[in-house]
Amino acid sequence: MESVLPGLVQEAQSTGTLRGLPTGNFIDGAWQVPVGGAMMETFDPGTGLAFARFAAGNADDVDVAVRSASAALCGRWHSMSPAERGRTLHRVADLIRTNAARLAVVETLDSGKRLVEALGDVAGAANCFDYYAGACDKHQGETIPLGPDYLAYTLHEPVGVTAHIIPWNYPLSTAARGIAPALAAGCTVVAKPAEQTPLTALMLADLCLQAGLPPGVCNVVTGTGREAGAALVRHPGIHHISFTGSVTTGVDVMQSAAPNITRLVLELGGKSPIVVLQDCDLDNAVDNVLGAIFENAGQICSAGSRLVVARAIHEQLVERVVARAQALTLGHGLRNPGIGPVSSVAHLHKIAGYVERARLRGVRVRTGGNIRRDPDTGQGWFFEPTVLDDLSPMDEAVQEEIFGPVLGVQVFDDLDEAVALANGTPFGLVAGVFTRDFSTAHRLAQRIDAGQVFINEYFAGGISVPFGGNKRSGFGREKGLEALRSYSRTKSVAARL
Ligand code: NAI
Ligand code: MG
Repeated sequence: MESVLPGLVQEAQSTGTLRGLPTGNFIDGAWQVPVGGAMMETFDPGTGLAFARFAAGNADDVDVAVRSASAALCGRWHSMSPAERGRTLHRVADLIRTNAARLAVVETLDSGKRLVEALGDVAGAANCFDYYAGACDKHQGETIPLGPDYLAYTLHEPVGVTAHIIPWNYPLSTAARGIAPALAAGCTVVAKPAEQTPLTALMLADLCLQAGLPPGVCNVVTGTGREAGAALVRHPGIHHISFTGSVTTGVDVMQSAAPNITRLVLELGGKSPIVVLQDCDLDNAVDNVLGAIFENAGQICSAGSRLVVARAIHEQLVERVVARAQALTLGHGLRNPGIGPVSSVAHLHKIAGYVERARLRGVRVRTGGNIRRDPDTGQGWFFEPTVLDDLSPMDEAVQEEIFGPVLGVQVFDDLDEAVALANGTPFGLVAGVFTRDFSTAHRLAQRIDAGQVFINEYFAGGISVPFGGNKRSGFGREKGLEALRSYSRTKSVAARL
């Protein structure tokens, strides 16, 4: 990979795109022109320019894909042993690694993210396939003791055809996070990537075929959420939906799923607190706060977007975070700057609107707050790393997900107040706790209403640790062995001997 990466970066920088990008839907193991013939453009947020065209799929394309996935459920895929399924998924992981440079450069062009982060996402996607590959032949049922005259046991059956609605912030990672456990459980897949970032999911489906997955097991239809996405989630041939995105669209998806009694997992983002106690390792806390909110330009569902800090260290910590934020360079993701662009011009203005309204309310903007361009080219959609200090609990910038590089600071005087502030939003995805006191850390982990709590390292964990939210962050869990259960249905068998 090392050898091809510089050449691909060079090609992307000099031509603004790459040769050989996918243009069709990937259905039934082949590239297919969309039924309606419509195409749309995807943009490079680092330049603000369109760099590729892709299929604007509609309900007809979705229907073809769902039929293909339904047929594939009962073919060679069904008769493959779990161990063989695992070997196939390991080959997908290997192919992701072989193609890592290309996947990462495409991800950077399409989403804007820094190349180092894109390479990390690709490595994570490969690890995800390896993890679930290993689980295929260990996903076993139970026997239930009913006494000598009975035999009772459970079987894990695949739920069937699974739909995956993928957002633009982690296009390949989120695709892998849903698709790998679905395949491990023996399901088939129709994925609909975000219209801002359609390319790497298509490339992943192609790699799945190359790895030996039968045609139709993994399909990707691109297009808008309103057309392709909505058609997919209301399709009666879908048995399970994994949705990652906004609360508003999540509500729509849940309603679309209801008439068909389609099961679903909703991952809807958050407003996650980083609770920093006076006795913490301050250097570590500063590093973690920076990563939690400025990685991927803050466009992370589990971003640590609220710093909930003890009054005694408030000024010191914020000063250090502000200094580090000011030192972050802005630039095109391919150049690995301190912080990359945000995903779209509409999103850029949404972020700017939050900060503008905060200013009008008299909130103290400690740093940042402005729309910027790439200093080298004068192009692209950038927002300065921003810190809003000393917010009140009901402030809009505390209650609503901004999904950009904007950190809100809240100050507490005692632990009860810290918990109240941490829990005082409609969301409950993750939380960070920074303290040297082991007991306090674990007591806080119990009291904070979130699906995951990180202690002394924000984003600690990985593919093996279950992930998902409480309250308006959604329900259901991804990652870990829990995800495998989402894509399985339990059948109980009880026999009189
Ligand atoms: P969105 O929720 O509308 O889009 C996410 C995905 O859903 C995309 O693939 C989109 O095409 C699809 N979609 C849209 N409408 C659909 C429908 N009716 N039926 C089925 N699929 C549909 O989010 P959007 O508008 O891109 O971003 C808005 C906000 O959502 C962001 O500012 C952020 O706060 C939040 N968000 C949260 C994410 C997370 O990781 N939890 C990821 C992306 C956005
Ligand atoms: Mg794009």
